[in-house]
Amino acid sequence: EKGTYPYYMLKEIDDQPTVMRRISQEYTNTLGDAVIDEKIIEKITDSDRIYIVACGTSYNAGWVGKALLERMTHIPVEVHLSSEFGYNMPLLSEKPFFIFLSQSGETADSRQVLVQTNELGLPSLTLTNVAGSTLSREADYTLLLHAGPEIAVASTKAYTAQIAVLAVLAKAVGDNKGNQSSLDFDIAHELSVIAAVMETIIDEKMVISQLVEDYLSTTRNAFYIGRGVDYYVSMEASLKLKEISYIQAEGFAAGELKHGTIALIEEGTPVFGVITDQKTAAHTRGNLKEVESRGAHNFVIALASLAKVTDQLIIPDVYPLLSPLVSIIPTQLIAYFATLQRGYDVDKPRNLAKSVTVE
Ligand code: M6R
Repeated sequence: EKGTYPYYMLKEIDDQPTVMRRISQEYTNTLGDAVIDEKIIEKITDSDRIYIVACGTSYNAGWVGKALLERMTHIPVEVHLSSEFGYNMPLLSEKPFFIFLSQSGETADSRQVLVQTNELGLPSLTLTNVAGSTLSREADYTLLLHAGPEIAVASTKAYTAQIAVLAVLAKAVGDNKGNQSSLDFDIAHELSVIAAVMETIIDEKMVISQLVEDYLSTTRNAFYIGRGVDYYVSMEASLKLKEISYIQAEGFAAGELKHGTIALIEEGTPVFGVITDQKTAAHTRGNLKEVESRGAHNFVIALASLAKVTDQLIIPDVYPLLSPLVSIIPTQLIAYFATLQRGYDVDKPRNLAKSVTVE
């Protein structure tokens, strides 16, 4: 139920702190350990490579999952689009483990891959929001997202829920392997910090609405740039903006922009820089300078410890690899307000369905 909310999307954005706390309750114990079915942990521990297969927003969450899984488990991870993987299957490792990410659990592109991996007898896990969904029934194992129903076509809380559940899974496998990076990762504590930081950003809604008016009211295009996890967030942020506001938006690896796409920057083109990673902050700032000198209207979203006073949105610090859980929130609100201000239906964008059941 959307209750007093004008749109489901806004309610679902607001739900995210609660979802983080719920995931922590469902998947961690009082000692702060990750609690995941032993069989899943054993199968992944035994694998030599993890393949994440998904579409759209779930695919974008998969990239953040790769960063977390590799850090904690030390197992290489590949992330693939379902619609490509099935027809151009890469050479598989000897002991692959498949993770299907799907909010609905009904996405046909992902299912066709699962049918093939099942035929090959390969182990699989579905992360889904819908118990009993097709992908859940047909995979060997399921982890539920516990995000509550997601009604708006633009996925928001499923994205953050997928990342949070993948973080717990990474911790569970990493601890099982005795990896120090994982043993040092206090997931229950970090998720509670994340929930609180999400709340502070959500409380700034009206500031974000005003910034959107300043930056996006007349533009036809926009760019999000970042490096590492900030690049992954840029991909998701731009998908959100384009699918509901119809502003042509692209997410780019900040360093790649100058290899071609920078030609599109004109006087007033909005460029959103995402800066949450200490290793790459200076480089992304350099890329923002490059576009600014070509007329871009820069908008910086940065973690407090890396921020400048001139940045448009400053977010309290969180555990580094979990920063997408908080840096994505302003970008969801940016998409929401840009759509509202243009007078479009936020929850039901043209040409799109909530779950895509054809290939
Ligand atoms: O239900 P799924 O997670 O499998 O859906 C995948 C995509 O269709 C979905 O994320 C889509 O990209 C959304 N409209 C994004 O907001």
